[in-house]
Amino acid sequence: MNINGKAWRTIWVEESDLTIGVIDQTKLPHQFEVSILKNHDQVAEAISTMMVRGAPLIGVTGAYGLMLAMKEDASDSSLAQAFERLISTRPTAVNLQWALERMKNKLITIEPQMRVQAAVDEANLIAEEDVRMCEKIGFNGMKLLQELNHQKGGVSSSAPLNILTHCNAGWLATVDWGTALAPIYKAHRAGLNIHVWVDETRPRNQGANLTSFELASEGIPHTVIVDNAGGHLMQHGHVDAVIVGSDRTTRQGDVCNKIGTYLKALAAKANQIPFYVALPVSTIDWALLDGVSEIPIEARSPLEVSNITGLNCSDNPNNKLQEVQLTPKGTKCFNPAFDVTPAHLVTGLITEKGCVLPEERAIAEMYARS
Ligand code: MRU
Repeated sequence: MNINGKAWRTIWVEESDLTIGVIDQTKLPHQFEVSILKNHDQVAEAISTMMVRGAPLIGVTGAYGLMLAMKEDASDSSLAQAFERLISTRPTAVNLQWALERMKNKLITIEPQMRVQAAVDEANLIAEEDVRMCEKIGFNGMKLLQELNHQKGGVSSSAPLNILTHCNAGWLATVDWGTALAPIYKAHRAGLNIHVWVDETRPRNQGANLTSFELASEGIPHTVIVDNAGGHLMQHGHVDAVIVGSDRTTRQGDVCNKIGTYLKALAAKANQIPFYVALPVSTIDWALLDGVSEIPIEARSPLEVSNITGLNCSDNPNNKLQEVQLTPKGTKCFNPAFDVTPAHLVTGLITEKGCVLPEERAIAEMYARS
């Protein structure tokens, strides 16, 4: 996608020395910096600190982490040790486990001296597949948005189609295109009049920082709201649909996503507003049925709640970022990073295969079709 008219991906291989380039998402939107990751430990650190984040991107980054580990030492023990180091970084998004297991299963069957090239090829394949799946999610979701717009009065209505989204499930959360935002990008490029309500998404503010940055870069009208404003907007008819992403989806369609998603789903249900979840197959955990009891929820540092980072508003010619404390010193804070929205609150899943009801049989049948 575009930044200042230039096409970027979130992650790439530096071909000259087989290192990994990423956009440092902890600095956006105020500073645009690229970081070069040279070994698997730096990759693990980049995932833990959320320099890279978003379920699909974490998976792809983990795959490149194993590639770097093979460059360091291509032995079986190095592979096992790097796998453990990388998988421990973020427990909720299943894409990380999915990508690491795919890499490990591939590499373990190959002689150590052939592993670096095999790892480059497999990680590149995972990255390209992610781009293709997200673009298909975009096409499938666009048709849904066109239908919603038609129901609302179509092109004859000058009112935009209002979509509410939570967190950042745009291209920054994937390699390119995104999941929840991909249908919005496709629909906007196809000429649909669209406006996005962007939840700020405390505590890390991925909506205020990243989704707004993405939408502005693509020229899509949007408005950032505090997380608590969504219900009010829905009650007053200002939201036509909600679209969010997913970090892990069970086989019956329970959806785990950024903390606060569940409250938006409840408000949408109470106001008869469609609530869609956009996701690629790499986000489905086929081993799990009941999301509320079975999905591990990452608890992150209380400092993400008590403190906040932003641009210093006073004289600040170098756009310096500053961290400030919000709570009284020593206040106890708790920071669960995700919650689960049960399938009965989800109107439909938008996938690379098409749109499907969040039901075990329907999901399985859709993926069984070639
Ligand atoms: O903690 P983050 O920023 O990695 O969480 C990201 C989300 O919750 C996204 O909504 C999710 O990964 C879906 S992404 C395409």
